[in-house]
Order: sequence, then structure tokens, then C-alpha cells
Amino acid sequence: MNRLSLVCSSLLVLLAACSEPESQSVSQPGQTESDAVVAVPASPAVPAPVVVYSSRQEHLIKPLFDRFTAETGIEVQYQTGEEGPLLARLEAEGEATFADVLYTVDAGNLWAAANKGLLAPIQSAVLEANIPAHLQDPANLWFGLSVRARTIVYSTDRVNPAELSTYEALADAKWRGKLCLRTSKKVYNMSLVGTMIERLGEPQTEEIVKGWVANLAAPVFSSDSLLIQAIAAGQCDVGIVNTYYLGQELQKDATLPVALFWANQGSNGVHVNVSGAGITAHAKNPAGAQQLIEWLSTAEPQAMFSELNLEFPATPAVSSVELVQSWGEFQQDTLNVEAAGRNQAAAVMLMDRAGYQ
Ligand SMILES: [Fe+2]
Repeated sequence: MNRLSLVCSSLLVLLAACSEPESQSVSQPGQTESDAVVAVPASPAVPAPVVVYSSRQEHLIKPLFDRFTAETGIEVQYQTGEEGPLLARLEAEGEATFADVLYTVDAGNLWAAANKGLLAPIQSAVLEANIPAHLQDPANLWFGLSVRARTIVYSTDRVNPAELSTYEALADAKWRGKLCLRTSKKVYNMSLVGTMIERLGEPQTEEIVKGWVANLAAPVFSSDSLLIQAIAAGQCDVGIVNTYYLGQELQKDATLPVALFWANQGSNGVHVNVSGAGITAHAKNPAGAQQLIEWLSTAEPQAMFSELNLEFPATPAVSSVELVQSWGEFQQDTLNVEAAGRNQAAAVMLMDRAGYQ
């Protein structure tokens, strides 16, 4: 039985993602780390596979892994699932984990994994050269691989973009009954508020969040897509979303009367976050893991992040697809995204005090 087969049999909630890849690695449940290091290829021509636990959807990661395998001969076995259960599982498995790489979205999640001791530092000249400093963990426990920008969207029917400026200004009484927000339970909003806490402090951030809540036109939304559709339908005039969701809606309907506005261009820049990866603390194939993460920071896969999910490459030298380019250049917040994780608990409590559901 190979490593991923055991992964599958040991976690029913993730069964949907299981497959039967061919691999030479063998281990048994309950083995210690040293026992389990029998993932020895039959010959040097068959390198050991890399096992990835990922919260990303399969259709976003499989093309990347297939390309990596085609170029290197290294097989990638992966498990997908929700961030929370995935991190809990990695923690519960401890030294016996099958995972070599954790690949997830949002610095808040990566920070949480690092904070639980689930990741090992990566010394890599390739990653240091390709990934800007604010998109990687200061202790190199994880590296951002794609950038997602969370900015303001507005109704092109009812809002003049000259009326827009900052996230903070959406708390003005001028937007009373006109703002839509996604639930505060989504990590994207925890990270946005977490970085505001870092920059503005808690009292000022709390006043802003209270202002947002006072301006809500509707109960909070469960997704950015529904929020964009609500603006198009006239339920509200402005909102805050990750840009790739607007891209997805525009790909379905190019006439959608919703546009994006790059927030905070006169000050700290647009709030950005990452999808990113780290090597697990008990990886059985750390060299393969590092090779995969380094490869993901290079030009070809960086362009694929834009093609597959309308995200931005983390590597500044790589350009985005046309739709994303049509949104124009923007200044991104260069505050290290690690602050989003470090301030996450404070952000959750603050949003609760402010009545942001
Ligand atoms: Fe998302």
C-alpha cells in the first residue's frame, strides 16, 4: 500500500480526493518516523514522490502538479480538504504524517500552521530571489506563491469611482445602507482586519469596523461571489472582495455592472494575501518538498496561477492574464502578511465586539 492509499484509508472526510497513484513508497500506520523512511525508490530513475496536503481545490492544483511531474519525473500525491480539518489532521498525525508539503490559502492559515510547530524552516536562495520579502514568513517557515488582492468593488450604475478611496472610508455615513460584506468568519476578512490592527491599532480599527456594520445594506454574505451578484442586482452599491471572484463573475457575464477600485492607493496600498506553502516538520521527503515549492515560484507555474484562478503571480517579473491586466497596476500593501495571522485572534474578537457577524 502506498503512502497516499494510507492517507485515504485513514481519513474518510477526504476520501473524494483519493486516487491510486503508482509509487514505490511503503509505510504502515503507527510507524515511527525512522521506521517510515522506507520511501526508497526502486532505482535512482524513480525519485520518491512528494505528498501534499492542500486546502486548494483540485482543479487549481492538479495542472501545476502534473506539469511539475512532467518536468522533473517526481510524482506528486495530494489530499485536498478544508483548512481547519487539514491543519488539525497534520497536528494529530505528528511524526507519523504522510505530508511533505502543506499548501493552503491565506497567510492566516499558514501562520496558524507555523505557530503550531507544523512547519520546518526552508533555506532557499531560489525562493528568496523569487518571492518578495513581505510575502514570506520572516522565519522562512512558509512562502507565498500567488497573490490575492482584497479590494473595493462598486456598482458602475450607482457609484462614481471618484467617491471611493479607502477601506476606512467605507465606514463613512455616506455609505449608510449601501455596503455589503462577506461574513467575518471567513479568514480573508480576519486577515484584512488583522492587518488594519497592525497599522492603525485596535481602537481605530474597531471604530472603522463599527462604521462598516452600521452601513450594511444586507446581512453578511457567505461568499464573495454572492456579494458581487448582490451589487449587480441593486441590493447594495459597494463591497470588499478578492479580485479573482470579480474575474470569475466577469468571465460569466462581461456586461456585469460591477467594477473594482484599488483601495488605499494614496496610503498603505491594497490589502494582499497569499496562497503559499511550507515543508512539514516531519516530512519524509523534504528535498522533494523543497524542489516542488521552489519550482512553484518559477515563471511557468507563476503564470499558471493567473491562468487557473485569476490570481496575481507572487514573482513581480511574471505578468498576469489579460483580464487581470485590464484592472491596471496597483500599489500593494507591503506590510508582511504574517501580521494577518499574528493578529487573527485579536481581529476575531474585535469584529465580534463591533457586531460584525
Ligand atoms: Fe477564495
